[in-house]
Amino acid sequence: MKTILLLNGPNLNLLGQRQPEIYGHETLADVETLAQAACAEGFAIDARQSNWEGQLIDWIHEARGQAVGIVINPGALTHTSVALLDALNAFDGPVIEVHISQVHKREPFRHHSYVSKRADGVVAGLGVDGYAAAVRRICALAR
Ligand code: DQA
Repeated sequence: MKTILLLNGPNLNLLGQRQPEIYGHETLADVETLAQAACAEGFAIDARQSNWEGQLIDWIHEARGQAVGIVINPGALTHTSVALLDALNAFDGPVIEVHISQVHKREPFRHHSYVSKRADGVVAGLGVDGYAAAVRRICALAR
């Protein structure tokens, strides 16, 4: 089985409760189910969420040589974290960045992404469907 690491960053544990007018009513558990369903045969999702930057970085390091690709919604760390970018740069497989909301329509501080300097694809504004698109893309690239 080929593993795809699905990483969600700060505050995404509150999906479904937090600003539903922006992020929708689906929960993180719904996202994980949807991501697993989007996997091609022979692929499996390893889903993790943390509010801690260092924990996300440790998981990216662990994924080296283990996971075939990473789907990541870094939350607000998207716009601030060079350390997350450096960790992703140390990972060899495809990386797809997901944002539930259309970040480019929102506040100017959400328009810049450090993670986009590494990501092979970026999905924004498709709601949680963006995770399924990202998983399908990793499967296609890692086949
Ligand atoms: C987000 C967008 C970020 O700007 C924000 O900080 C988040 C979620 C999204 O999924 O739309 O926490 O990554």
